[in-house]
Amino acid sequence: MSDAPISFARGAPAPELIPSEELADCAHAVALRDGTRVFSYGPGGGYAPLREWVAARHGVPPTRVVLTVGGLQGFVFFAAERLSRTPGRVLVEAPSYDRPLKILAREGVEIVALAMDDEGLDPDALEAELASRPERPSFLYTIPTFQNPSGRTLSGERRVRLVEIVSAHGLAVLEDDPYGLVRFEGESPASLHELEGGDLVTYTSSFSKTVAPGVRTGYFVLPVPEAAAFEERAVSTYITPPFLTQAIVAEFVARGHFEPNIARVCGELRARRDAMLAALAEAAPEGSSWSRPKGGYFVWLELAGVDTAVLARRAERAGVAFIAGTAFFPAGAPEGVSSARLAFSYETPERISEGVARLLALLAD
Ligand SMILES: Cc1ncc(COP(=O)(O)O)c(C=O)c1O
Repeated sequence: MSDAPISFARGAPAPELIPSEELADCAHAVALRDGTRVFSYGPGGGYAPLREWVAARHGVPPTRVVLTVGGLQGFVFFAAERLSRTPGRVLVEAPSYDRPLKILAREGVEIVALAMDDEGLDPDALEAELASRPERPSFLYTIPTFQNPSGRTLSGERRVRLVEIVSAHGLAVLEDDPYGLVRFEGESPASLHELEGGDLVTYTSSFSKTVAPGVRTGYFVLPVPEAAAFEERAVSTYITPPFLTQAIVAEFVARGHFEPNIARVCGELRARRDAMLAALAEAAPEGSSWSRPKGGYFVWLELAGVDTAVLARRAERAGVAFIAGTAFFPAGAPEGVSSARLAFSYETPERISEGVARLLALLAD
């Protein structure tokens, strides 16, 4: 085993999860076949064949789909567009993906954190928040499936309830779903977008976890009145997205690689998740608890009475990296002090077992 530090910090795929040979082949083919289009300026909404493929999967016209430079770039456009239409607070589940929290905080936006548990965002918390102030929030940002950072999935029952609340209040929602297809077991619940019909719920996903993050291709399925303005933000930011990488993804799916690649990735990730859960069960101290995700990249660990920021510094000296829980709550929030996000996506099962053992041994010192 290599003695390089063991990283549970980054939500990144292991090198062996990236289908680089097929992607290289697709790149060569599309550059030769469609070079004048991929190496030129073109529509801000993205490479037409991929846009059409995404639109067909979601049962919408291609004009409602915008391909973005990764999902996160799209979040920046979405938040700016929503906040300009309906200024106000943004609701998030707590914990939530740290980068959107940072983006919103940097823009001075009020972030309201809503409670969640093992079944995902608590609809009662959403209802209470909406009842507490008369002004409608700008939007709700939620990651219902294999959430980053917790690995939790919103239950089917709660999805229905959430959509009822959202519809009753006319609340705009951003459903961020980069992990939904990375499922190791069980059935996929309906998305909020499907349940609601796509008038209030914007759906976003990304090819970062299903193909490769380096293709930097995310996508948004937008409500009809918002799609053109969203696309205009893309045009006025980078004129044209990188068509070459979008065309590589289009070629990858056209060649029939998409589903088999997801099956392969899920097999690799399942072994990694299993190694992490087994290592936690083996040595986690009394009183600790952790999520048991059926897909995605992350396990959320609660270590009662442990300051995980301090633990992270000690772990670094022991050659193990993870992100302490407070990063996933709005700045200054009291939660997350004894939590940790452990990504199982990057390391091999052997190194995961070793890393978790090393981490937990620090608690016995
Ligand atoms: C919940 C969530 N949304 C969006 C992204 C952004 O992905 P990308 O910009 O690579 O498409 C990530 C990346 O880890 C994520 O975890």
